[in-house]
Amino acid sequence: MRTIKHFMPTKVVFGRKTIHRIGEEIESLGLSTEKVAVICGKSAVSNGYVEIIKKHINGKVEVFDIVEPEPTVEVALRVIEEVKKFSPELLIAVGGGSPLDVAKVVSVMLTNEGELSEFIGVPEAFKKPGVPLVAVPTTSGSGSEVTPYAVLTDRRRFKKAPLISRYLYPVLAIDDPELTVTMSPIVTTNTGVDALTHAVEAFVSKRATEISKLYSGKAIELIGRFLPRSYGNPRDIEARENMMLASLLGGMAIADAGAGLVHTMAHVLGVMYRVPHGLANGVFLVPVLEFYGLSAKEEIEEIGRLMGFEGDVYRVLEKLREFLSFLGIPKSLKEVGLTESDIPDFVNLVMEKKFLMGNLPRIPTERDVREMLKKNL
Ligand SMILES: [Fe+2]
Repeated sequence: MRTIKHFMPTKVVFGRKTIHRIGEEIESLGLSTEKVAVICGKSAVSNGYVEIIKKHINGKVEVFDIVEPEPTVEVALRVIEEVKKFSPELLIAVGGGSPLDVAKVVSVMLTNEGELSEFIGVPEAFKKPGVPLVAVPTTSGSGSEVTPYAVLTDRRRFKKAPLISRYLYPVLAIDDPELTVTMSPIVTTNTGVDALTHAVEAFVSKRATEISKLYSGKAIELIGRFLPRSYGNPRDIEARENMMLASLLGGMAIADAGAGLVHTMAHVLGVMYRVPHGLANGVFLVPVLEFYGLSAKEEIEEIGRLMGFEGDVYRVLEKLREFLSFLGIPKSLKEVGLTESDIPDFVNLVMEKKFLMGNLPRIPTERDVREMLKKNL
């Protein structure tokens, strides 16, 4: 058996109504709540979640509801600047992956010297832990509450800007599935498919371990059963609860085993055509697994069994395509904006991300990527 490394410093409190325990959980960790910055988007305020949190915090709370979806480096810099003026002792991020990731960046940029650009893609640049961060997800997708990653968009350089550091783990995650019932069917699909992609990519990763596979395998099984139910009826709380668990497990799995080529392709698509992250993963999930093909035969067939699709690799992929189509994921890349003339640029941007390739069951050449795009246009 290979060497196993597992690191997960975040205290997770999972379950219905746990949002009402946020005050006591923060206290149990010995954290100060004298000055608390809440970082979120507008919907966390309009859905009343910020108000609930404020009720459970004794100290001074200031709300920074200025995070936008698929946040850019500029958005993050603005939030850092605003929050800095308040000099909080604790941060609480409320929302989907976007506010959580921005709050992670704020947390470390309040304590580490230097420009944000110096930290992008450079784990060694972080010298100090950030201001403690509590993550309160309101979607079931990114699993960001338990990962050492934060992803921003760099529009100027036409790239995603990932930050990776053990200091990006929140100290506490409050996973209350009741906060996810406000997601629309479209957001449910996009975030749920992101969680599925995390689980699948971690499952087939060359860095997968006996521990990470427990998380990713269970997440795949739960998503197969409960994502179509959450999509069909947003108020199905049992389905929402299981999807939130799947998202959490998916996050823990990529924290150990890493993401893969689906995320690489999705990041390029996201930057080039402003396609939401989960949707972009959804359109590449089957094409990439098809490319892995027999190189990941056992894993893909196991994924099929976990999702209730019996059969060989090809049958599993056919069923997975139907599953995604039911959820409203487009079948062709054209539908999300890709044109034939953009393919060369797209291929170049994918091939620049060589650092990820070691995780993959089959490493693509430039030609492979081009063929994959053409075949699925
Ligand atoms: Fe993702």
